[in-house]
Amino acid sequence: MFSRYKFDAVIHFAAESQVDRSIVGPKDFIETNVNGTFNLLDAALTFWKQNDCPQDFRFVHISTDEVYGSLGPDGYFTEKTAYDPSSPYSASKAASDHLVKAYFRTYGLPTIITNCSNNFGPYQFPEKLIPLMILNIVEEKPLPVYGDGQNVRDWLYVKDHCEAILTVLEKGTAGDTYNIGGNSEYRNIDIVHLLCDLLDRRLKRPAGASRELVTFVKDRPGHDRRYAIDATKIRHELGWKPRHNFKEAIQETFDWYLGHMEWVESVRSGEYLKWIERNYGNRQLDYLAADKCRQTRTYS
Ligand code: TYD
Repeated sequence: MFSRYKFDAVIHFAAESQVDRSIVGPKDFIETNVNGTFNLLDAALTFWKQNDCPQDFRFVHISTDEVYGSLGPDGYFTEKTAYDPSSPYSASKAASDHLVKAYFRTYGLPTIITNCSNNFGPYQFPEKLIPLMILNIVEEKPLPVYGDGQNVRDWLYVKDHCEAILTVLEKGTAGDTYNIGGNSEYRNIDIVHLLCDLLDRRLKRPAGASRELVTFVKDRPGHDRRYAIDATKIRHELGWKPRHNFKEAIQETFDWYLGHMEWVESVRSGEYLKWIERNYGNRQLDYLAADKCRQTRTYS
């Protein structure tokens, strides 16, 4: 790919990104997130040198606020917060961030790192909280809430995130890190209740019907309590801020899922797993097959 085409930027989104799967099977996270990032950096560096090291080339590495660990009830993650990852997933992303920074400092490759808060929106794989809850509510299945449901996440609509990445690509400074957050902190239980209430209305069910499906399950090991991003730097330096209202974006998201049940079936069914098998072999297949049945997983 790198020897066949000419381009002026690499935007590195690729990652294994689900914390629970990283707890069950960390190896794939190391291979994809650490080794995969190293392979891309190495190929990008070769390409960059072969093209006379253009200073406006960009390697934008998409990362997560989970590298910073957990917040207490107050405070926010800034670009200066020390890394303190809790899960194999966040540790693998932290390692990849360090590699990206090293390629800037050591070789001068013009890299930028973005650390974003929890995304939601169309096309999200239904293993993450919001799409999982939407689909379980639609199908009247149990809604597994980990621990006491009081963990807080700062939700970022995917369309806002994409605009932020484009802004960073066009205006960001090489060697810098930018935090990207939605400025929408919610406790997990409040997100689940909100989805229940909005979907009860949308599906013309009696008020409160879906809340009956909430099932508290054993907590995730090493479960970070709270994430919240201070996005002052990207707002002040590059002029980006989230444009979407959280509740409207949530409704747009569940309307998208309700209108794309074929897509949902294709990613849950054999079609998607066959695609994975063709492209990645059996190793990944076993792992996804085991995961797709999860409704109320607990850890022993
Ligand atoms: P998730 O979407 O997995 O993102 P992350 O772990 O990267 O923040 O989970 C978001 C929050 O929701 C997290 O605190 C774990 C919680 N959660 C549940 O309570 N039940 C679930 O079934 C899932 C998938 C997540």
